[in-house]
Amino acid sequence: MKNHPQLLFKNRIAGQTAFLKEYEKSGGYQGLKKALQQMSPEQVRETVKASGLRGRGGAGFSTGLKWSFFPCDAPGEKYLVCNGDEMEPGTYKDRELLKADPHQLVEGMIVSAYALQVPVGYIFIRYAYEECSQNLERAIAEATEAGYLGKDILGSGFCFELHVHRSAGRYILGEETALLNGLEGRRPNPRSKPPFPAQKGLFDKPTTVNNVETIANVPHIITGGAEWFSQLAFTEKGAGTKLFGLSGHLEKTGCHELPVGITLGDLVSEYGGGVRGGRKFKACLPGGASTPYLTSEHLTVPMDFDTLDAVGSRLGTGCVTVFDDTTCMVAATLNLNRFFARESCGWCTPCRDGLPLVNWLLEKIERGEGTMDDIAMLKDQHRNIAGRSFCALAEGAMGPVESLLRLFMDELVDHVKKGRCPLKG
Ligand SMILES: Cc1cc2nc3c(=O)[nH]c(=O)nc-3n(C[C@H](O)[C@H](O)[C@H](O)COP(=O)(O)O)c2cc1C
Ligand code: SF4
Repeated sequence: MKNHPQLLFKNRIAGQTAFLKEYEKSGGYQGLKKALQQMSPEQVRETVKASGLRGRGGAGFSTGLKWSFFPCDAPGEKYLVCNGDEMEPGTYKDRELLKADPHQLVEGMIVSAYALQVPVGYIFIRYAYEECSQNLERAIAEATEAGYLGKDILGSGFCFELHVHRSAGRYILGEETALLNGLEGRRPNPRSKPPFPAQKGLFDKPTTVNNVETIANVPHIITGGAEWFSQLAFTEKGAGTKLFGLSGHLEKTGCHELPVGITLGDLVSEYGGGVRGGRKFKACLPGGASTPYLTSEHLTVPMDFDTLDAVGSRLGTGCVTVFDDTTCMVAATLNLNRFFARESCGWCTPCRDGLPLVNWLLEKIERGEGTMDDIAMLKDQHRNIAGRSFCALAEGAMGPVESLLRLFMDELVDHVKKGRCPLKG
């Protein structure tokens, strides 16, 4: 394996967590010092924009562009919220980051808050990530004691307070507006947009929501510069490194920090040790459970946002789940859809009623009782749900279904013709 630059995982040692002493020794809080002592908030925002950093929470929106919509100079309450909900099946990169090196997120929150001129921040953490929450609470206490957090940080006059909030534990809480409702203590239905959180967010005040990995990159960009960060990627349109999590039918699962644009094939063979037992690669979810499947045709594809969009999928969270040739793709899709149907918040009809109907159809086909009409109904449900639901949960749920219909139609038809799952013998 080649040695690729390590930013986010540079202090990662199995079974250990780097706290303040180790973090400072490795250059920690230098980004904050540079930002507060040598740069204006606008210069920090411009540097992040020029770096090409794109959101690591799934949608891949430009962080600098998102920040440019924020009313930094408006007086009064404003909030920065970090999304650490991470309940997408197969995705565990933020957990790995927070287990290894929580001060990176704390420093990232302070630098980002300075850039946006925000006095209060929240880190919203998945209910099951108690160890990460406790790591963050310790890091916040250490940073406060060291003068990196609180009032008049490093004598700059800038003040910032930071809180950890444990999620109530549902997938929908990761959707940024549902998250804001949850943070306010309300039922976490998504909110309608517009108004966007930058105008009316937490407690109706301007708010920016960014993912853990996104924010953790910010101090590195400030220390190393926009150009340096951008050139870490293997592809021209990509920028930086990415945490790639591997799971499924591989010899080795694990999370690795690698340049954006590494190929899917290199991830599978070099870092995953190849498909388990020397079996054939059949398909994968390239970036979490809500991304459309890729097949062996795509092993040479660079893992960056634009390229994966162009081949009909998405980079999403960058956490890859591999399926070998023993996998029935109908059963795999049913398994994923059961999760989404269970996690639907019930607010809008296409998702609340459509996802259980998709379950019913896939179960029937998998049992060998499906007809060609059921496949037609599955197509119809996809058309009715995708793009017609209130938030992106149902759209994401249709990623595997749409790609099942596009890439594995022969397998669906085989179930109907044989009257059984062909892979069950
Ligand atoms: C159902 C659903 C769940 C989501 N879960 C997460 C999550 O766990 N973490 C996350 O950062 N973004 C999640 N997102 C995306 C957020 O809505 C939002 O786009 C993201 O936090 C923005 O941060 P970024 O720009 O840094 O990526 C989810 C979106 C949906 C629709
Ligand atoms: S798409 Fe699903 S999760 Fe989103 S608002 Fe509608 S019912 Fe709720």
